[in-house]
Amino acid sequence: MSLDSDLVRVPTVDVNLSDWEFNQNPYPVMEEWRSLGPVVFNSRHERYMVLSYRNCAKVLANVTQFNSQRMVEFFKMTFGGVTMEAIDTPRHHEMRGVWAEDFQRDVVIAQRQLISEVVASRIDPFVERVRSGEIVDAIPHMTRGIPTLVIAKMLGIETEMYEEFSSWSDAIGNGGEGFLDPSPRGAKLLADSVAGTKALNEYMAAAIVRRREHGVPGQDLVSKMVFDDFAASMAEEEIVASNTQLVFAGNETTAKLMAATLVALGKHPDQRRALVADRSLIPQAFEEVHRWETLVQNLPRHACSDESQIAGISIPNGAEVMPLIGAANRDPSRWENPDKFDIFREPKQHLGFGFGMHVCLGLNLARLEAQIFIEQLLDKLPDYELAGDIDYGRNFLLRGPSAVPIARA
Ligand code: HEM
Repeated sequence: MSLDSDLVRVPTVDVNLSDWEFNQNPYPVMEEWRSLGPVVFNSRHERYMVLSYRNCAKVLANVTQFNSQRMVEFFKMTFGGVTMEAIDTPRHHEMRGVWAEDFQRDVVIAQRQLISEVVASRIDPFVERVRSGEIVDAIPHMTRGIPTLVIAKMLGIETEMYEEFSSWSDAIGNGGEGFLDPSPRGAKLLADSVAGTKALNEYMAAAIVRRREHGVPGQDLVSKMVFDDFAASMAEEEIVASNTQLVFAGNETTAKLMAATLVALGKHPDQRRALVADRSLIPQAFEEVHRWETLVQNLPRHACSDESQIAGISIPNGAEVMPLIGAANRDPSRWENPDKFDIFREPKQHLGFGFGMHVCLGLNLARLEAQIFIEQLLDKLPDYELAGDIDYGRNFLLRGPSAVPIARA
């Protein structure tokens, strides 16, 4: 780690964010960066990293100084076209408005029965195997399918294809790792991600055409967009990309966070027992998992004005900025003893679902899925053990366990 005040007027480090060792536990390293200053330049990736809760929230809330629009090529590659995530103008609100009502809390709660059935269909066979003495990886054999099946049912697409949706979506997610890795390995991940996007785009394009041919709007989310008044002004590519984004967004993120929940409660059996005894703690326990093991570690933005500043430090127009969400969620000025996992903390907003105009559209759904998952886990497998070390891979953009072997206690 070196300081270089000639190159840029902020402390500089040279750290590969897709390094395996760094990703196993990035928190002590990010703590060192925090001690260097509010903004640290990472020369390896040529990006300005932001560390505190307050400054990350300020960057995400200020689209006149820091926008997502310059990430448009990245989003086009990821989803096959422009989606709401790459738009910062009022058009963003109109595009988001197409599905906004469907993701409101009271509307999402109506999906409880559907979600409970999906969770049971994935958790029951898993629990049976663990109870019989097998060590089973919870990701492919349980958590991975839950959000995929839920979002497939909500979109009205074929649930039998959930393994394809999962693998295309995983490939897209791994593109985030390729994005930070300039080596041939990174290039391969990006190529696989493009192939995953293409496959999902083709599938969604055909589903959209079928809705139009049928001519009668259904209750599913694909129909909602196809027959929406505003969507009539969207390019076909944008409609396909938006549906692709929903399959992806409602997929790997939630599954990885469920896996992180298993790890956190596996490492803290006393807190797991407290949850078994008092189910009213489940919502705050999930928020604590999300704070402590933040999944989306970086929300990329670009400085888009000559006035762009963070904590009084000027950021050159056009430079890429990385609000480090995991660092923000362990900011000691906001949380006492932030490295401690503690489900009894006073609930406070964290940045795990983002902040500002791009805050996660699906957060109510993700929370409900996770809560139902935890409820059934506590009912069906209240005692379990982690059978081995947990590997966090190299994907800093979507950081989570890549395997969670579970054994009976
Ligand atoms: C635990 C699971 C999830 C996590 C951690 C998560 C996280 C996030 C974050 C951090 C953002 C902000 C992106 C930014 O500022 O650039 C975001 C945006 C978004 N999320 Fe999620 N998400 C999750 C689940 C879901 C689900 C289930 C859906 C929908 C089915 C969804 C749909 C979206 C969409 C459409 C956006 C873009 C919103 C906009 O640009 O206005 N997410 N998500």
